[in-house]
Amino acid sequence: MVSLGTPLSPSATRVMLLGSGELAKEVLIALQRLGVETIAVDRYADAPGHQVAHHSRTIPMSDPDQLRALIEAERPDVVVPEIEAIATGTLVELEAEGVRVVPTARAARLTMDREGIRRLAAEELGLPTSPYRFCDSLDELRAAATKVGFPCVVKPVMSSSGKGQSKLDGPDDVEPAWEYAMAGGRVAGTRVIVEGFVDFDYEITLLTVRWLRDGEPTTSFCAPIGHRQEAGDYVESWQPQPMSPVALDRAKAVAAAVTGDLGGLGVFGVELFVRGDDVWFSEVSPRPHDTGLVTLTTQWQNEFELHARAFLGLPVDTALRNAGASAVVYGGTDAVGITFDGVGEALAAPGVDLRLFGKPASFPRRRMGVALARVDDGDVDAARATARRAATTVRPRA
Ligand SMILES: Nc1ncnc2c1ncn2[C@@H]1O[C@H](COP(=O)(O)OP(=O)(O)O)[C@@H](O)[C@H]1O
Ligand SMILES: [Mg+2]
Repeated sequence: MVSLGTPLSPSATRVMLLGSGELAKEVLIALQRLGVETIAVDRYADAPGHQVAHHSRTIPMSDPDQLRALIEAERPDVVVPEIEAIATGTLVELEAEGVRVVPTARAARLTMDREGIRRLAAEELGLPTSPYRFCDSLDELRAAATKVGFPCVVKPVMSSSGKGQSKLDGPDDVEPAWEYAMAGGRVAGTRVIVEGFVDFDYEITLLTVRWLRDGEPTTSFCAPIGHRQEAGDYVESWQPQPMSPVALDRAKAVAAAVTGDLGGLGVFGVELFVRGDDVWFSEVSPRPHDTGLVTLTTQWQNEFELHARAFLGLPVDTALRNAGASAVVYGGTDAVGITFDGVGEALAAPGVDLRLFGKPASFPRRRMGVALARVDDGDVDAARATARRAATTVRPRA
């Protein structure tokens, strides 16, 4: 039985978000609607989530001592990591001391490092992945790239949003890829993964929810989300992505295996490559996924509501309401406190909605908002075109 208290009173149910970007902001809004008391944490002031939480805190979350001190001072009922760059070793320790981490501290630790999650998926769970090797030097990478074969992809093991990632078509690309990875990782000068390039027909995020049905953990899936990435960063997504029944069943089996092993309660974004009926596991976020922003306009319960409900022990409904698409609004400029023109024109198109995240500073490729398009006739291609048009109708200005 789940009981929720009154915020800002001794009975409050208190949830701390580690990371307060646009995804955390929506989780915080979902929590606010349930009368949960919220504490938003980020490394910089006035982050999107800070603006909608009861309390905001600014610390470097990769600092183990500061992270521990904050969690011990605030004593939240639940700690919810929203980003990868957190001192996850500290979360593992705190969990052992009785702090609840969503979905689990182990899931946060394994997925912040490509090596942890890749070895789990491929070597322990036997899931299909591209061939891969890990390397610590340029010489090792030369040898490994030849073994894996060209084309291949090199990524720092600690990185996200395509940072430091490049595709290699032949031996001449090895050295630049190494240099780029060394410059682009979250932690300077560490390991890289080299993966065989998968020539997929399409890629999906399968949002997978672990929640309690009559007190027992159960797994539910959202309709598959198709997406397009540029330089490793999401630019548009749509739902549902049409799939053959065999590919969809395989995708669900892979997602159930990996999320079942990671355990805990909440939403997972399972990234998969699909060609014909074949499915490859790529990676998984133990939290809402950026491509899942589309669910703000497609599902009865969006991925942020699903996450909040699931980790609070409440029932969920993953049903699709209508097809739709999302397209990213970029900053386009290096400036603080920018203005968005064209908002009214963008919203005037039928079925269009918009989120502007409220980030204090813009840079050209920074995600500042997202355009959403809903369609009632299932025409995903039309939804994509509408979302893209709306995203470019919004014009950021310094
Ligand atoms: N082995 C691969 N084969 C083909 N495309 C890939 C491969 N690895 C990554 N990509 C492309 O790059 C994108 C980002 O890679 P990903 O591993 O998800 O990194 P990140 O953690 O930065 O999201 C993927 O969504 C896919 O489009
Ligand atoms: Mg990814």
